[in-house]
Amino acid sequence: MTARIISGTEVAKEVRARIARDVAELRQARGVTPGLVTIIVGDNPASVSYVTGKQRTAKELGFYSVQDDQPEDVSEEKLLGLIEKYNNDPAIHGILVQLPLPPHINETRVLYAIDPDKDVDGFHPANLGRLMIGEARFYPCTPFGIRELLVRSGVETKGAEVVVVGRSNIVGKPISMMLVQKEANANATVTMCHTATRDLAAHTRRADILIVAAGRPRAVTADMVKEGAVVIDVGVNRIGVTPEGKAKLCGDVDFEAVKDKASFITPVPGGVGPMTITMLMQNTLKAAQIAAGGK
Ligand code: GUN
Repeated sequence: MTARIISGTEVAKEVRARIARDVAELRQARGVTPGLVTIIVGDNPASVSYVTGKQRTAKELGFYSVQDDQPEDVSEEKLLGLIEKYNNDPAIHGILVQLPLPPHINETRVLYAIDPDKDVDGFHPANLGRLMIGEARFYPCTPFGIRELLVRSGVETKGAEVVVVGRSNIVGKPISMMLVQKEANANATVTMCHTATRDLAAHTRRADILIVAAGRPRAVTADMVKEGAVVIDVGVNRIGVTPEGKAKLCGDVDFEAVKDKASFITPVPGGVGPMTITMLMQNTLKAAQIAAGGK
């Protein structure tokens, strides 16, 4: 079997066009422009690249967007003070603090400080708790993007064997919680694998839908995938530099070999990545709609 490639770039384009229309409508109907602030601490190249993409997309879609760069040695108190300022700023509907943060800053304290109504990353414990009980307000952006790709590709999740490789708070845990809910576009049997899983391949081979967020280049090989499985690759690994000086990327799945076995597969780049940014815009739009008294 040769897999159909799920193009996150194409799906993201469609979703973004709809968001841009909704932004214009909100502005016209209520005089409200969705506002997003992205806070970055230090100059980690991957983080800078992600945040630049988020800012560019926000501007393209007609958002009010603010980029707040803080030095690597910024104090936790200063960062918490900034968050408080944006919590109280009516022009800002979404606050994103790019992770990871330097070791001297307590990440949990920072995430707790964000007003849950402005937590467009969906990382606040209140929002993760709501997600767990099926009352989600903001889904974390990468899992939200993954679900959107599955839905738009017509993949049936009800009753499916979903295997998630990775248990991060950003991807593995939330996507598992989302797909296990008794609701539309979910209702799957979910297995979460991680570094202590005894026989990883025995699990991945059972998967109808295999979601890989392991953080290891090409960790999933063809022998670990069932014929006809849907494979979603969340990995973004920098494995060198292209002749044009850009970062050369590969996923957590051995794409070339697995594409001959899967029914659907996401590429890296151009798969889950563009969807993550898009769903951040969707969450920020929703926060603004709620603040404006809609939805
Ligand atoms: N670091 C890696 N992914 C993410 C994300 O989705 N949001 C934030 N804030 N930081 C990240």
